[in-house]
Amino acid sequence: MKNLIPGFLLAILVALPQLNAQTAGETSSAPTIGAQPLYLDPTQPVDARVEDLLKRLTPEEKDSLLHGSGTFATAAIPRLGLPERWMSDGPNGVREEIQRNTFNTAGLTDDYSTAFPSGICLAATWDPAVAYTQGQAIGEEARARGKDIMLGPAVNIQRTPLNGRSFEYYGEDPWLSGRIAVGFIQGEQSEDIASCVKHFAANNQETNRNNINVNVDERTLREIYLPAFEAAIKEGGSLSIMAAYNKINGTYCAENDYLLNTILKGEWGFKGLVMTDWGAAHTTDGAARGGLDLEMGTGVGRVPYDQYYLAQPFLDGVENGTYPMALLDDKARRNLYVMIASHVLDPNRKTGSINTIAHQNASQKTAEEGMVLLKDDNNVLPLDATQIKSIAIIGDNAVHLQAAGGQSSGIKAFSEISPLAGIIARVGGRVNVTFSQGYSSAGATRGGRGRGGAAAAPPVPAADLIAQAVRAAKQADVAIVIGGLNKNFDTEGSDRRDLTLPYGQDDLIAQVVAANPRTIVVLVAGSPVEMPWLAKVPAVLLSWYGGSEAGNAVARILFGDVDPSGKLPCTFPKQLADTPAAAFGAEAYPGVGGQEYYREGLLVGYRWYDTKNIEPLFPFGYGLSYTTFKYDNLKLVPGDHAKGIWMTAQFDVTNTGSRAGEEVAQVYIHENNPALERPEKELKGFDKISLQPGETATVSIPLGYRAFSYYDSDKKGWVAQADDFQILVGSSSRDIRLKDTFKLGEASFYK
Ligand code: GLC
Repeated sequence: MKNLIPGFLLAILVALPQLNAQTAGETSSAPTIGAQPLYLDPTQPVDARVEDLLKRLTPEEKDSLLHGSGTFATAAIPRLGLPERWMSDGPNGVREEIQRNTFNTAGLTDDYSTAFPSGICLAATWDPAVAYTQGQAIGEEARARGKDIMLGPAVNIQRTPLNGRSFEYYGEDPWLSGRIAVGFIQGEQSEDIASCVKHFAANNQETNRNNINVNVDERTLREIYLPAFEAAIKEGGSLSIMAAYNKINGTYCAENDYLLNTILKGEWGFKGLVMTDWGAAHTTDGAARGGLDLEMGTGVGRVPYDQYYLAQPFLDGVENGTYPMALLDDKARRNLYVMIASHVLDPNRKTGSINTIAHQNASQKTAEEGMVLLKDDNNVLPLDATQIKSIAIIGDNAVHLQAAGGQSSGIKAFSEISPLAGIIARVGGRVNVTFSQGYSSAGATRGGRGRGGAAAAPPVPAADLIAQAVRAAKQADVAIVIGGLNKNFDTEGSDRRDLTLPYGQDDLIAQVVAANPRTIVVLVAGSPVEMPWLAKVPAVLLSWYGGSEAGNAVARILFGDVDPSGKLPCTFPKQLADTPAAAFGAEAYPGVGGQEYYREGLLVGYRWYDTKNIEPLFPFGYGLSYTTFKYDNLKLVPGDHAKGIWMTAQFDVTNTGSRAGEEVAQVYIHENNPALERPEKELKGFDKISLQPGETATVSIPLGYRAFSYYDSDKKGWVAQADDFQILVGSSSRDIRLKDTFKLGEASFYK
């Protein structure tokens, strides 16, 4: 299961007797006893250590690095002190142990972890510093669990809110997704772990994910689906990247020469390794020439490891001259680079920690910063516990634990505070809190092809559950309906069928708020839902999947201990028909006959709704606070192109309310006379600031050339035209508070 002997110790124990040995693959320059081989010397440059080690490997040893020797492990090379490399999911914590040669869980009792909020909640914080802290904490837990590569973050763009894995990803905008990914990866890798940003690329649905061929134009790929990966690699420094299951323009991602060799390794200068998603390799030649460096999960439990495409079949190809040795060397080099750059062989490699108070605090911080206050009429919130005698908590999601489930990102959590438990802990001592289930999630999973198997008949008829809830609401000062979705709907492996709340919740909410107008709805969900009852409900809090401390975070926001500051990383449309992927028929989504066409092009998310003037239920970037903010004094300060800054948007934000709060100030651009179609607006910068009542802060958002550029598929580069650009500063994509025009005097072109 885990590395019993830490890598560095294995390296030293084994390397010592070898120092004078002349074995196959060793060079005559092996230093004398006492001086450790260069590749083991942490004071030496990574590249030099890699080259020193590479030349010591036999072809067989090199090839052993290119494929799994377990579901989540690769083989050791004891002769040179190279340990097994262990990987684990996922983006919001360290998954429970899986059996060595199957996908079954190992059923251990020492593989719990802290559950962190799901990706969409992390993105909703709009705070790369929070992402860094969460990534660092997960990195520490991964090291404590003996892992070397963590399979995350997951940064695919929410092209359709129906995508089953929307909850794992960072929403609909490439810039926001990239900023959060950079923070997360830098944090995680600071703990001597290699991150593995995924799923590269355009894996934007679960329906037929293994084979769907995504037909997408180059400009859309470059401007929408690649930037988050580009930032993760070029700025985040992700040491590895996971090739997605699907095809792009006819070729599987895991053997897509253009995607992996031309763009990733060529243009972006990526030195790390490309691994498959589990079972995403299809041919030896495609893997060999297409840029794959590590094959995982091929035919788990069925295909012998030495028969993986990059195992003996590839080695045979090298030995018979089909593939140059240089190709084997490059793949092996990339695997060694990741190992050495993440300090696997170093004696002082970090050993991490697990489920510490710091980790629990980090988990709660993300949850608190990511929850989005969608509605708060007449300041119903925050609740004052001293003025309330009774609260009726209603809804299965008040007690439904969410950390597990959803497949690979599920966490076996040391603990998970439910919303009910959090509220009782916060006010139970002085307020009478009742609970009624309101609805049962044991019923058919109407909204998706749920993982719950055959739907069990709800133990209590739905009408009775609603009647109980209505009675409870009538008798209480305040009613809080805690509903939403669960991992039957937000899950890997299948997409949702619609955006409706399942289990009859719409009817429940309507009846509860009719019984008690002081009703608050808390939505526990990882993707957009329709809200036909919204006009009747005075307050709505979107809590996402908040991880181990979810209930505490919900309680602290409801009772005003912390100001809600989350902003939507994805649009909540009024109806599914308004969404771009639904606008062009089945060929656009979910695809027909294995072919799918991204007919909406660049117009994803708010880019679609704002360009087509479609009113959303709640717009991208939207989120309320318990206080209010004023924006003033926008100045556009020309920048030094040589330093990559073309213009800095400078403006003041003032907290005009009576409570401390946090605001996410957003900067969008609109080009006045574009040569090619451009979206109505595009997010190019943001900053989250914390302000005391009456306090003013000056915010500076620098914009580089890419902020003004579009990708020119003919010129194969980024073009910024000489044109007037509107700089739009606001509290959401549809709440623009300041704007001014920036004249770009000269055109530019960048590769
Ligand atoms: C799954 C997922 C991927 C995960 C991998 C290993 O199919 O797509 O996100 O990391 O397999 O569990």
